[in-house]
Amino acid sequence: MSVYDAIRIRRDVRAEYTGEVVADDVLRRILDAAHRAPSVGNSQPWDFVVVRDKGVLATFAGHVAEQRQVFADTLPPDRAATFDPIKIDGIVESGTGIVVTYDHARGGRHVLGRQTVADTGVFSAVLAIQNLWLAAVAEGVGVGWVSFYDERFLSDLVAVPAGVRPIAWLCVGSVAEFQTAPDLERFGWRAGRPLDDAVHWEQF
Ligand SMILES: Cc1cc2nc3c(=O)[nH]c(=O)nc-3n(C[C@H](O)[C@H](O)[C@H](O)COP(=O)(O)O)c2cc1C
Repeated sequence: MSVYDAIRIRRDVRAEYTGEVVADDVLRRILDAAHRAPSVGNSQPWDFVVVRDKGVLATFAGHVAEQRQVFADTLPPDRAATFDPIKIDGIVESGTGIVVTYDHARGGRHVLGRQTVADTGVFSAVLAIQNLWLAAVAEGVGVGWVSFYDERFLSDLVAVPAGVRPIAWLCVGSVAEFQTAPDLERFGWRAGRPLDDAVHWEQF
């Protein structure tokens, strides 16, 4: 599969997991792709916690359901009605969660390139996630990013050390198919915008 095909086919997967747990060798290749991401000062500030314990998956799914409700409660009635049928995770169905963490202390005090833009560390960890996501597509594996969580809750759940941030819970599992359009578009929550609206020449 070409990189362009993987980029085109990739979706945030919530409902299409088959329940078949991803094989360890496939998971290893996907994590290896993540670990090859570029990073500021070559700091590689990420770690990956692989979660397969059914009890932990269920506990996290319960927490996410609570947070989903907190968000739903903030919505005006028309948006709440649109949001209602939208699935926001496949934590249990995917069978595997990967918690991606960010360690700002990785690389020591003199991270080359991070002096003026502190966020370059987090940017680096997010690039690892994108590598993982695209590699998963090439393996026929679905990934769904879940961000409806309290950071402290997730840190406690998977024993993330103090000073290290969990920046994503990724649901990773075999899929029957990839949808051709984003769920949020299909369910009328928000459509994408044309490329030409995002590209600017010379000045913003
Ligand atoms: C930082 C980040 C957080 C996200 N959090 C969630 C989430 O909590 N639940 C969810 O269903 N999708 C989540 N998504 C997926 C987006 O909704 C999805 O990428 C977007 O709607 C475009 O769809 P596509 O990825 O299928 O192209 C997240 C994506 C990103 C990049």
